[in-house]
Amino acid sequence: MFDSSAPAAVDTAELRKARGAFFTPDSITRYITNWAIRTSEDSVLEPSAGDAAFLVQAVRRLQEVGASVPRVDGVEIHPHSARVAHARVKEAGGNPNLIVSDFFLVEPEPRYSVVIGNPPYIRYQDFTGESRTRSRAAALKAGVALTALASSWAAFTIHSALFLKPGGRMGLVLPAELLSVNYAAAVRQFLFDRFRSVELVLFTEQVFPEAEADVVLLLAEGFDEGPTDHATIYQAQDAEALSTLSGPLTWTPLDPAAKWTGVLVDPDAIEPLRSLKASGHSPTSKPGATPPSEW
Ligand SMILES: C[S@@+](CC[C@H](N)C(=O)[O-])C[C@H]1O[C@@H](n2cnc3c(N)ncnc32)[C@H](O)[C@@H]1O
Repeated sequence: MFDSSAPAAVDTAELRKARGAFFTPDSITRYITNWAIRTSEDSVLEPSAGDAAFLVQAVRRLQEVGASVPRVDGVEIHPHSARVAHARVKEAGGNPNLIVSDFFLVEPEPRYSVVIGNPPYIRYQDFTGESRTRSRAAALKAGVALTALASSWAAFTIHSALFLKPGGRMGLVLPAELLSVNYAAAVRQFLFDRFRSVELVLFTEQVFPEAEADVVLLLAEGFDEGPTDHATIYQAQDAEALSTLSGPLTWTPLDPAAKWTGVLVDPDAIEPLRSLKASGHSPTSKPGATPPSEW
């Protein structure tokens, strides 16, 4: 826990960049939270809570489905952000349970039905020392060997999943490199192996200029009920367009660990596919078939 009376530490753009602190727009936190939280009984963890962009939405959503003063749990490495998060959750009518810690030092226990968030994206050049060693050890606990080239989000994704109860749901904002870089092969394989269902929302425009990264939304459901052999893909122009998604398309990779560049659907291609689906034809690719971008 943290000392709520401690003075605010100095924070700068450089320090925020070093710890991957870019905060998520409301339209995205709302979309992920509404997808992930389904009943007032859902137990929620945010592994890199920042100033509670997700946790405040979680309180709103839990109240919407019938909870009165919902407890929400979070971990955050930056004490001042955790203090702000604590205050914001309280203000929203929730019961905050925030731990100030490196998330990789928190021993995973499968106690949550929902894990949501936007993990830090710290590239391997800046993600060094004990922090990286700890992150790789955490991923290894899940049987996932990450290379030294992995950015912080990769181990965060794996470690986050280990906090889910069987059947749990994980909704994360991840860099689009999840789909394509070699070091993420082990993450892609993990998702297909361990979850019953994997959905991705892709954007045709940049939604997160501050983070200098293209992002995708990962909506993975049914932890420990995998494997699955396909991902369901939706597409939106930008965060504001999340209410009018295109899709879905089903994508079945021959090898989940291989690059998922086949899921990068041309926006002009999706409308005819939607009409086709509406007319009763389901555009489902088969193992080894041409990827959707070339349909
Ligand atoms: C991309 S920001 C997202 C914050 C918040 N989840 C949101 O969506 O607005 C990532 C957050 O992770 C925190 N962070 C970075 N490394 C961490 C670590 N090892 N353990 C816990 N939190 C960490 C940063 O301080 C920052 O607040």
